[in-house]
Amino acid sequence: MNSCTKEYPYEIMKLDPEEHSEVFKQFNSEAGIIEDFVRVGPKGYWFPHGFAELAQKLYNMEVRPDDVWVITFPKSGTTWIQELVWQVANDFDYPKAEAIPLVERFPFLELAMFYNGKKARTVLGGNEKGKVLLDAVNKTFDQVSSMQSPRFIKSHLPLSLLPPALLDSCRVLHIARDPRDVAVSFYHHYHFFRFMGYSGNFKQFWNLFIEDKIDWTPYFENVKESWRMRNHPNMLFLFYEDALKDLPSTVKKVAAFLGKAVTEEQVRRLCDHLAFDNFKKNKSVNFEVLKDTGATSTERSFMRKGKAGGWREYFNEEMLQQAQRWMEHNLRDTDLTFPSVK
Ligand code: A3P
Repeated sequence: MNSCTKEYPYEIMKLDPEEHSEVFKQFNSEAGIIEDFVRVGPKGYWFPHGFAELAQKLYNMEVRPDDVWVITFPKSGTTWIQELVWQVANDFDYPKAEAIPLVERFPFLELAMFYNGKKARTVLGGNEKGKVLLDAVNKTFDQVSSMQSPRFIKSHLPLSLLPPALLDSCRVLHIARDPRDVAVSFYHHYHFFRFMGYSGNFKQFWNLFIEDKIDWTPYFENVKESWRMRNHPNMLFLFYEDALKDLPSTVKKVAAFLGKAVTEEQVRRLCDHLAFDNFKKNKSVNFEVLKDTGATSTERSFMRKGKAGGWREYFNEEMLQQAQRWMEHNLRDTDLTFPSVK
């Protein structure tokens, strides 16, 4: 450890064998690359075991004053807001955005945690495209570190697991979404990314989600860490539901936050670019390129519904009550509320 490196302040715990076998009853696919999970720190943030190898590096990475970070809980509209932010910050460079995939323009900081194990090498190393993917993903952290400024960085980590100087050094955006829609979207994501090897049904997934046994959970702790900092001048806290209701206002808020003047015509064109039906077809953001690697399902798509309130179709009466109790319990100590959806 050099003199600038901070000691990692959290304990990283492996699951005990009993819990491991209980959870892995829902992860029995041959295609899966996850071998184990860990819990981190007092809040017990849950990750694939590959996080352990990255934790210290992530915590100690250098942040730059002109970095722009989008941090979210997964499935909250991250990709949508990343493209919005990148376009505003880059003066609406549509040709560049089309030519360079979003994952390169706006890399996903902790992505290697899924791919740095033995099983990933076995499953993905079997074909040429898989090998290229594996190699690229495992270099993400180093690429972020050596990227030219200004950097655009995506992470699903809560603030406490990111560099402590982050918020005082650079601009950070958080977008949050009703956790019931997040859970439904995440469930489909677990099936879309075949390498997750997930085989459970939605009810089983929901139970893991509220028991904090899904990657990046506990959901509320993750979101509340950013919510508490929402008045910090370097933090912009947004809601998915607000962006759906009034995208032009969200674009203008982001532009003001990034110190960019935008015209009505620029806002209109960007909203058209970001409209769900156009976004779904946009190869730079829709992850279709992964299909050939075998990492994703050929029957499902990353851009699924793009709606608010769709969770109602997935919850029976018992789950509805359970969700209500879970949300009330987790919202009891905060003024965080989600925008209402008709
Ligand atoms: P659904 O699965 O409910 O459709 P993330 O980027 O954080 O993984 O979030 C993915 C979710 O955002 C998906 O939700 C996806 O469809 C939705 N999404 C992506 N682009 C969108 C857009 N342009 N408009 C509305 N929702 C969008």
